Amino acid sequence: MLNQVGTGADERLERVDWQLVRDELNGTGAALLERLLMPKECREIAALYDDDSRFRSRIVMARHGFGQGEYKYFSYPLPGLIGDLRTALYPHLAPIANAWNERMGIDLRYPGKHRDFLELCHRSGQTRPTPLLLKYDAGDYNCLHQDLYGELAFPLQATILLSEPGRDFTGGEFVMTEQRPRMQSRAHVIRLAQGEAVVFAVHHRPVKGTRGTYRVNMRHGVSRLHSGQRKTLASSSTTRSSDRSGDAELLLNGPAQYLAHRIARQRQDTTHAGLEEFI
Ligand SMILES: [Fe+2]
Repeated sequence: MLNQVGTGADERLERVDWQLVRDELNGTGAALLERLLMPKECREIAALYDDDSRFRSRIVMARHGFGQGEYKYFSYPLPGLIGDLRTALYPHLAPIANAWNERMGIDLRYPGKHRDFLELCHRSGQTRPTPLLLKYDAGDYNCLHQDLYGELAFPLQATILLSEPGRDFTGGEFVMTEQRPRMQSRAHVIRLAQGEAVVFAVHHRPVKGTRGTYRVNMRHGVSRLHSGQRKTLASSSTTRSSDRSGDAELLLNGPAQYLAHRIARQRQDTTHAGLEEFI
């Protein structure tokens, strides 16, 4: 089923109320997409975790201080349904990402089609796929963090819960915090159903204040699992680089954009994006 032709990804996403998603993202930095995957599909994708031929690298989170648990990055070709969902999701999110960049004074704009965005990523030296499967056992957790995949990081990411809460695991809630200027941080706990996705801001989002728009810094993580096993599929539209060859091209695109990405790169030191182990 995962590799069949015609996975219906476009149709599934056309059923979504995108105005509501936009409003929720603007309001809290996160939005839910219900019943994106059927339970059988969730189980099939979760079962891929033990097939190392599907993945290009494996991260054991405790070794890097990321938390406790592990995840694996898919290699190309992606399983059909996962690739199709990534491609189908992108054109719905790109206008939101562009509107955010405009409000935050960031020059970068994302093209309307995922194929064109991937082309930009590849030209910047980001050629490796970023979809990944995460696995948490009892006692595991994921520290609050940001995912910044290279120079052309897409500001929104989707995570789909593959396991069934209450039956497969307890605890293990998706958590987001927003760090607001001159205010204390606020936490959101997002309860997902099996097959449901949360779309969320991976770095920051614009918020309208009394003196104009300001940036709120977003972090996400997973609270400690009380029992069982929890698997999720995380999908970003972005690819990531295997080297640092993107600098020259970004310089050609304009100093302001280059500066923005230099700042983003410096922040990468505090994210998961910097470390990998190959399986
Ligand atoms: Fe993450």
